[in-house]
Amino acid sequence: MAGVGCARSLEAKRVLLIVGGGIAAYKSLDLVRRLRARGARVRVVMTAAAKEFVTPLAFVSLANEKVYDDLFSATDEQEMGHIQLSRDADLLVVAPATAHILARAARGLCDDLATTLLLATDKRVLYAPAMNVRMWLHPATQRNVSTLHGDGAWFVGPNVGDMACGEYGPGRMSEPLEIVQAIETALKQDTLLPAPEGLSIRGGALEGLHVVVTSGPTHEPIDPVRYIANRSSGRQGHAIAAAAARAGARVTVISGPVALPDPPGCETTHIESARDMLAAVNAALPADIFVAAAAVADWRAEPAVDKIKKGERGAPSLSLVENPDILASVSRGPNRPRLVVGFAAETRDLIRHAQEKLARKGCDLIVANDVSEGTGVFGGAMNQAHLVSRAGVEDWPRLRKEDVAERLVARLAQLIGGEMS
Ligand code: CTP
Repeated sequence: MAGVGCARSLEAKRVLLIVGGGIAAYKSLDLVRRLRARGARVRVVMTAAAKEFVTPLAFVSLANEKVYDDLFSATDEQEMGHIQLSRDADLLVVAPATAHILARAARGLCDDLATTLLLATDKRVLYAPAMNVRMWLHPATQRNVSTLHGDGAWFVGPNVGDMACGEYGPGRMSEPLEIVQAIETALKQDTLLPAPEGLSIRGGALEGLHVVVTSGPTHEPIDPVRYIANRSSGRQGHAIAAAAARAGARVTVISGPVALPDPPGCETTHIESARDMLAAVNAALPADIFVAAAAVADWRAEPAVDKIKKGERGAPSLSLVENPDILASVSRGPNRPRLVVGFAAETRDLIRHAQEKLARKGCDLIVANDVSEGTGVFGGAMNQAHLVSRAGVEDWPRLRKEDVAERLVARLAQLIGGEMS
């Protein structure tokens, strides 16, 4: 398969593979072989049902490791407790993920070793579902999948095809090489889950601070069915929010309409228009840091109450009025956070415009990026940013938006800690 198979691509990575009870379990043997061939260390956990399909000995032989299956094994607990087993991995992979495992994980049940590990882990979980097509399409399963998505889990598959039971449709487990590819992609990202609210596992650099982030586009209605919008995906703003949460901050996200899950560890308010975004931001203040990453629509139309019909008078003309500037209003308002950060999306004279925006909007930093056609910044995965402050301009390399977020949060922590001017 294209894109898979770079030698030793998983060198020193630790994968905890949970094997559920389905006929696709035989494919997980091949998965172990392929992960090991790429340098990964694979620890295998089997459910009782999985052992009805494949023997533990087969996994022992391929993983060259002991296979775990018993929550109450005194020997295993003494050698490596189940909490340690769940944490001592870079990624948890559930393959096959049966409807029953998904249901138990979504509800937080932990009645065997596999589900206990899923609840106790501080790492991301990648599920490779496998089940009968009706079971997969059942609203209960789809509900469980969306709950797990919301909790930060990742999914690969299922594929559409013939099923062992003779039916046809979505439900076949992804092929081992597709799962390998998903694991490789997952392990390029930070797999550590943010600490649950109220628990500080790692004293983060933004511990005890409140950060408000705007993200995504705004939609400005023209009539009940049409709106003015822009190409912002929300990916950069969401990544900043998630990074701030990982750094220990309490994070409030005010998000326009995006096709992304809410950033993990943050409290997210969903709005549509610029005016709603301003109201939600004001309601979220006071804060220590404000990051305006949203691509707020500059203008709005006076929306028609009824849908505008084509009629005979040709195209209607829209009369536009300017939206409130959220960044400027927070920056100059009575509740001004200690650090106010704006973005500048420009297609030419990037730094000059960013410096002008810094002064005009009264903020402390501007993250400037070139969004001209061909850069792929709007809606894409990468960003090339320049950090503009009164002290000067820092040029950052082209980075993934998640890495821009990490870097920005680290700089914010330095600045708020008073370590830099
Ligand atoms: N911004 C805002 N409210 C607005 C417009 C922009 O809070 N009504 C914020 C954005 O979130 C961003 C910064 O201001 O942090 C700059 O946005 P940008 O669209 O680049 O600038 P504009 O103010 O719209 O200026 P121009 O259209 O002239 O580039």
